[in-house]
Amino acid sequence: MFTSAVITVSDMCFSGEREDASGPVIVSILEEAGYTVDYTATIPDERDIIEHELIKCADELDIALIITTGGTGFSTRDVTPEATISVCSKLTPGIPEAMRADSLKITNKAILSRAQAGIRDKALIINLPGSPKATRENLLAVLPALKHGLEILRGEASDCGE
Ligand code: MTE
Repeated sequence: MFTSAVITVSDMCFSGEREDASGPVIVSILEEAGYTVDYTATIPDERDIIEHELIKCADELDIALIITTGGTGFSTRDVTPEATISVCSKLTPGIPEAMRADSLKITNKAILSRAQAGIRDKALIINLPGSPKATRENLLAVLPALKHGLEILRGEASDCGE
């Protein structure tokens, strides 16, 4: 199966004012789905730090699937989507489209997530919102199709084979 990284982006979690509940939710969902979780980090809502972590995971650690949680909303400090866009060479709009479409069946606040997803070399980066509930719901909406996408991205499958 594929390697993965989970990066929690939150000023409050980074400073210790709040416990990171969403990172562990993602780790457990990924492990249950057969991914190895090779790297975790909690970082503040700082664009250059987010970009640095994403680049490290993709380029140095060669992680296949990099998941972020937090910083996708409307607060002035929320910059995770902008950091993601700036380190990706291609965006994968189907992933956030599916997350928001599925989430809209649960809450009309789904439109408030500005989450993005994209490709940097052989890594797929996906933003999730910050709360444990939103994190779980958004990840479960796209998880079943990710393995096939990663097989194509990592050169283990050539087409959709259907
Ligand atoms: N998506 C789902 N599935 N469930 C949720 O509870 N919460 C929304 C949205 N997406 C939510 C969701 C809310 S209230 C916000 S503000 C945005 O995600 C952004 O969250 P963030 O600022 O924690 O990243």
